Amino acid sequence: MLKYVNYKERLLMKFELHSVDGVSVKSDFSGFHKLKLNERLAIIKKLKKLSSKEVAELINSGSLDMDIADIMIENVIGVTHIPLGVAMNFRINGKDYVIPMAIEEPSVVAAASHSAKLARANGGFTADADEPIMIGQIQLVGVKDYEKVKGIIMSKRDNIIKTANGKDSVMFNLGGGVKDIEVRKVETERGTMTIVHLLVDVRDAMGANSVNTMCETVSPYLEELTGTKARLRILSNLAIYRKARATATWRKEDIDEDVIEGILDAYHLALNDPFRCATNNKGIMNGIDAVLIATGNDFRAAEAGAHSYASLGGYKPLAEYKKDKKGNLIGSIEVPLPVGLVGGATKTNPIARIALKILDIKSAKELACIAACVGLANNFAALRAMIKEGIQKGHMKLHAKNIAIMAGAQGNDIYEIAARMIQEGNISVSRAIELVKLYRKATRKRH
Ligand code: MEV
Repeated sequence: MLKYVNYKERLLMKFELHSVDGVSVKSDFSGFHKLKLNERLAIIKKLKKLSSKEVAELINSGSLDMDIADIMIENVIGVTHIPLGVAMNFRINGKDYVIPMAIEEPSVVAAASHSAKLARANGGFTADADEPIMIGQIQLVGVKDYEKVKGIIMSKRDNIIKTANGKDSVMFNLGGGVKDIEVRKVETERGTMTIVHLLVDVRDAMGANSVNTMCETVSPYLEELTGTKARLRILSNLAIYRKARATATWRKEDIDEDVIEGILDAYHLALNDPFRCATNNKGIMNGIDAVLIATGNDFRAAEAGAHSYASLGGYKPLAEYKKDKKGNLIGSIEVPLPVGLVGGATKTNPIARIALKILDIKSAKELACIAACVGLANNFAALRAMIKEGIQKGHMKLHAKNIAIMAGAQGNDIYEIAARMIQEGNISVSRAIELVKLYRKATRKRH
């Protein structure tokens, strides 16, 4: 107990030091999870200069105003809740981040933070992202001579771009808009189709609305030019021009040589077995989705993009691993990440706004870099845990409280019953039910 208090005091002192110098905002908070909720919140409030109103919004679990919810989607009857945590210890391109993650699954936030701590020992992550170019597709059917149709479209390239850009002057004035076009031939059971791609720079937006509008704007002109019929006019989630990449090196002295061999074995299984690869990539998306949900981004778009990108040329892991000359483990990831800082729920959802403030970022590209790093961190953590003690140990430890609640525990009993199940090495609903009865009896006796 004494050890815990001392540790906590040290951690709080460490935070005070950071806040005194005021300039270097750190995220290196090993043991952050050992603090109580109000202590964690106090640190994030001070560190990220949140207002009391923002803190009140964060802790009010019914905070999404029903009037706002009602304009976000149709047929609203309520609001559901996902816990929002923060991943600590991330250093990316030399900058420290506190990373909000919204997820219902225990251990994902802890796993990301732990991987980041281990990577930090060797400088953290490096990451970069492409320019925010999205693809809009226009499907032309009734094509008799593909080469001729392609020739006509390419000869009018500049007019097509001008027509599309006429619709979104805000994006155009910010330096965005359609930058180029591509024409592709797709053979189908219903004949040859010509697919026109608009390559749209969407700046700091995710971009779906602008891209779809541009596709719809330009399609009558394409029909008129080519004598074909435009059917679908919609963005592609396979955002190959909008990828993010991240790399980290985990030193052999920090993670053990056999763990490195085990991670390489696991990676090579995923590389050669789609059954394993699906689960491997799911672990990556645990982290990426959590960042996207926290920031109000469209995580289904990222899911579609990531898995379709992974399957180009046969389904492959999104992250790869190899050893450097010294035997350290290098992990790297490349994944399409169409994410935005403006538009959609990023601005209407107050919690997403606070999450973006905590992230303290300047561009959608920076957000894509962060999400890629978290994806890599979660992949590394899952592989390492499976190689070492198995995934269930840590998972069940964190899940013990959920199990206690499921068994009917309330208040402080939740913590005590969870701690007891962990100590006994028996984290199960049946044991939790027995303990709930025992603790209730003890409480009745006391009164
Ligand atoms: C669980 O949500 C994710 C893992 O299954 C990922 C993996 O197996 O790599 C642990």
